[in-house]
This record gives sequence, structure tokens and C-alpha cells, in this order.
Amino acid sequence: MKHAASMIVDKDFIISTIDNRLYGSFIEHLGRAVYGGIYEPGHPQADENGFRQDVTKLIQQLKVPIIRYPGGNFVSGYDWKDGVGPKHLRPRRLELAWRTIEPNQFGMNEFVDWSRQAGTDVMWAINLGTQGVEDARQVVEYANHPAGSYWSDLRTSHGYRQPHAIKTWCLGNEMDGPWQIGQKTAVEYGRIAYESAKVMKLVDPTIELVACGSSSREMPTYPEWEATVLDHTYDQVEFLSLHSYYGNPENDTATFLGRSLHMEDFIKSVTATCDYIKAKKRSKKTMMLSFDEWNVWFHSNDADKKLEPWQIAPPQLEDMYTMEDALVVGCLLIALLKHSDRVRMACLAQLVNVIAPIMTENGGQAWAQTIFYPYMHASVHGRGKALVPLVQSPKYDAKGITDVPYLESIAVFNEEANEVTVFAVNRDLANPLPLEVDLRSFGQCRVIEHIVLENQDLKAVNDAANPNRVVPHNGGNAAADGAKVSATLSKASWNVIRLGLN
Ligand code: AHR
Repeated sequence: MKHAASMIVDKDFIISTIDNRLYGSFIEHLGRAVYGGIYEPGHPQADENGFRQDVTKLIQQLKVPIIRYPGGNFVSGYDWKDGVGPKHLRPRRLELAWRTIEPNQFGMNEFVDWSRQAGTDVMWAINLGTQGVEDARQVVEYANHPAGSYWSDLRTSHGYRQPHAIKTWCLGNEMDGPWQIGQKTAVEYGRIAYESAKVMKLVDPTIELVACGSSSREMPTYPEWEATVLDHTYDQVEFLSLHSYYGNPENDTATFLGRSLHMEDFIKSVTATCDYIKAKKRSKKTMMLSFDEWNVWFHSNDADKKLEPWQIAPPQLEDMYTMEDALVVGCLLIALLKHSDRVRMACLAQLVNVIAPIMTENGGQAWAQTIFYPYMHASVHGRGKALVPLVQSPKYDAKGITDVPYLESIAVFNEEANEVTVFAVNRDLANPLPLEVDLRSFGQCRVIEHIVLENQDLKAVNDAANPNRVVPHNGGNAAADGAKVSATLSKASWNVIRLGLN
């Protein structure tokens, strides 16, 4: 077979109108995500609230539509009330999930203020580890009830007369995991999630809720967990969560690049489980998925084991991302887009310093990691309709994954901008891949730009000493001839081909 790939897309073959929340992210009270990340009073770039403007500006470039907060494992031991009211009265607590000290100088109200500045919505996770139904109703009343009740008036007394109007809420975090504070069986979790959801929606019927799915597809209780949890919660929730992290500890890059196929399998089997419960319940409602933790995570594992406990904001989970990690993130973004009819929300975990596209130095600079770029390109240019990708590509076999296509690709049609954007990864580590895209129903196309992220060294990173080692360039060779677009995708590259329509 000739070493070349092709893709046909048609404006009538639509996977979905993409929910912008597919490009969400996540900030946990963990490591230097909050303290030293988004919030560092006294930093030369901090505003009067202590919000680092250099970091905010980078986040604004990503156009992050929604951010999950405050955890993560952290939330299962967190009392949200510790983080509101006068700062000098807030307690310092032992934080048991990550074994640090939580000073509580940043909490719900600061996060809402910060999110407005960053131009993003809040996805608030409640604690269903050590807390339960009563706290669930209180936190929604504090955040969203206009006035005239104990908790809403408390918010007003803290300086926030207007309700925060938080629309999206997670019912706990990874409650199946033995590491989770207050881990539960599927039945225990299903019951408490249902009862919490009930009171939360009695307080504010406009909110949307996410129930916890398995914390990964490797969990022994997967997918029975999903079925049991949904059996209890189906009528009260709009989303079921998925979490998955990928790594390359064995330095097998071909396999690592194929891991997005595992993500797709995971999505398909969770979708099937949701539809099984839908059928069982004779329900008219279709459950949507929230892939609210996904990323590459493995570089920092050894360093984390050596950290001393009970520090404030130690450097935890500080993965330094390589060029090959950026390719994997690109493939994972395409996988999410391919399933965007059911995956309506997703969160790149996380956003700053902790397994993050953005890094900072305490008191110093902020910079973009390699994975920042595919995430930014997808978030900025991947809005509109995801089109069915009819792909022909040569394939390879990797460890535990067969038939990995060298080409991973999808096109998004943005009707408003009158543009089609093709996202494409060439997984071939040794050879360029000629690509032909047939956009038959779109008529004449013109190439606006062909952005490429590539580097001869797949282990190259952006670090404090050289924050711009891996950056995209505009020198791709895509060319249009009527409705046909051809390009040569460099070996091991991430490509964004933006096409204007006449
Ligand atoms: O994102 C880091 C951690 O990964 C989160 O706290 C937890 O939910 C997951 O296991």
C-alpha cells in the first residue's frame, strides 16, 4: 500500500454541534495550581486580588470555557465553608488527599472572581467523601440562591450580593477509588449521589449534575460501577464522568501515540453502559458524558514520592511535557471530537503547574508547555460542527494495540466564520505522510494557514531556561485545488489546516 492517507468530509455528515465545554480544564487545590499558580499575592504580575496576570493572559489565549474546581481528590476531605468569609479567620487544615497544609486563603468567592477575569465558567465539585446531603444543599444555597435565607445571606455578608449562578456541579470525585477519602461502594455512592442531587435541584432546578463514573477503565469495578450508579441516579443527573491518564514509562512512543484508541474504546463502552440503563429504565433521556479528567501524567511520579509531607503548595505533579506528549494530547483531543455527540464536556487535567499546559516560577515567569499548543488550537479553532472523518490510512501494530492508523484526523466546520479546520496528527515517527482531504460538498476552499508543531527531538520540552523550544510554526505546505486539499504532514507532527470557504 502506498504510504499516503486521505480523508473525505461532507458538511451534511455531522457528528455533533460541539458543546464548547469540550475544551474545559481543571484546577485543584493541589501542589502549586492555586498558590503560586493562579494566585500569588505579592508577585510583580499579581493584581490587587493576588491573581497573577501573566497566568490569566495565558489562560485567556486558551479560551477555556469551563474549569472544574476545587478537586479532584482534594474535594473529598474539603469543607467549602473553610474557604469563605474573612481570610484571617479561615483555618489552616491538614489536607489528607495530598498530605499538605491547606491555608484556605483562596476559596469559592475568590475562584468565582478569578474565573470571571479568566473568561471561564465554574464547574463546582461537592464533597461526597466526608460530607453528604446537608452540605450539598448548603453549598448550592450559598452559591446560587438570590437572598433571604441563611446561606444566601451569608454570601451577601461576605460581599457577594449577586448569586454566583454556578450551573454545572460534580457529585463528588472518583468515589470508587481506594485512595479516595470516604471511598464508597457503587450502591453507597449511588444512594448518596441521588439524594444529594435531589436537594441540590430543589434549591436550584436549573443546575446540571455530573455523577462519578469509574476513576479509570482499569478499575476492577468498571463498568459494573457505571451501571449501578446510573441505576440509582439516572433521573437526577445529566452527565456521567470518565477519567483517564496516559503515560510512556517504558519509552515506547509508537504505543504511547496509539493510546487515544484506548480512550475511544473507553468512551464507547461507557456510552453503551449508559444506553443499557436507559433501555432498562424505559427512559427518554440520553445520558451525556463528561470526560472531566484526561491528560498525559507520568513524568513526575518519582519526584512526588520524595516530597516531604505537610508543606504549603509544594511542587506536586509537575510533569514537564515533551514534544511526543503534545502529539498524544493532539490525538486525545481528536478522539474527544470524534465522540462529541456524547462527550459534551471534558476537562484537560489540569491547567496550571499540576500536570498542566501552563507552568510558573514562584515570583518569576509563566510559560506554555508543549501540550498548550494542541489544546489552544482545538479550543480556538475547533468550535462548530464536528464532521464524520472518513479516513484511509496505512496502519501499524503496537504493544497491546493493533491497527493504529498513522493518520489521526478530524475536521470542524465553523459556519459563522465560514471556515473548516482540519486537525491532523502524523503518528509516523520516521516518515512524512502525504494527505489528501476531499471537501466535496464545500466547493472552493482556500488555505488560510497550515500550522505545524514538530521537533526533531521528541523528548524536547519547554522549561524555565528555554520556554520556547517547542512552538508551532506556520510553514505547513497545505494547498487547495477547488475542494481538494493536499498537504505533506511531517513525521511525528501536529497539524492545523485552516480553510476559508467562498
Ligand atoms: O488530577 C490529579 C488527580 O487525579 C485528581 O485529584 C484525581 O481525581 C485523579 O486521580
